[in-house]
Amino acid sequence: MQKGKFITIDGVEGAGKSTQITFICDYLKSKGINVVLTREPGGTELGEKIRTLLLNPETKSMHSDTELLLMFAARNEHINAKIRPLLQAGDCVLSDRFTDASYAYQGGGRGLDMRRIAELESWVLQDFVPDMTLLLDVPVELGMSRVESRGKKDRIELEDIDFFNRVRESYISRSKQFPDRIKLIDSSKTVEHTTQQIKVILDLL
Ligand SMILES: Nc1ncnc2c1ncn2[C@@H]1O[C@H](COP(=O)(O)OP(=O)(O)OP(=O)(O)O)[C@@H](O)[C@H]1O
Ligand SMILES: [Mg+2]
Repeated sequence: MQKGKFITIDGVEGAGKSTQITFICDYLKSKGINVVLTREPGGTELGEKIRTLLLNPETKSMHSDTELLLMFAARNEHINAKIRPLLQAGDCVLSDRFTDASYAYQGGGRGLDMRRIAELESWVLQDFVPDMTLLLDVPVELGMSRVESRGKKDRIELEDIDFFNRVRESYISRSKQFPDRIKLIDSSKTVEHTTQQIKVILDLL
């Protein structure tokens, strides 16, 4: 695997992103690759402040376009202040969520026009896309049951099951649209079952 790859991991709540990203990080490090972990929304000091605005359940009302713009404002900071410089330095960057989540949540979930999201994507990212996206797929109820014990839900997690089913469907349809980049992974079984599939994919990088 060459240095300087940008890998993103995405999927609905409880799909196993945060669990698997730790494995991916350790696995790539064991191959002698410098890996930096990051997440969205957030990843920078300013981006994390925007994350708080987005996810705090006390933010009672937010227009869907505002949500989309804040996601991309945080992403603009993330890409310019962190991701690009790291990739240029030859590091591998691993992000817990990225632009596919905007298509899934603000597009699929909130029902915003996908073309509007595409306009923001081309403005903020130009033609920059991840080298690889691992899409962890799990039925929504199963994912939710995994994270139930975490307690307090964030502002977006408070949405209903139909919202998350639309999110999941949008993720799946993106993986069909970009089959070379987005690897759809069955994350409905054990942690090890998911890890094993990821390992096979990473070995091909
Ligand atoms: N196949 C699996 N892969 C990963 N985690 C799993 C799997 N099966 C069960 N789990 C468990 O599900 C829980 C939620 O996983 P995790 O926090 O990684 O999800 P997430 O996708 O990061 O969720 P969120 O979107 O809320 O951040 C963890 O306790 C994890 O151990
Ligand atoms: Mg997580």
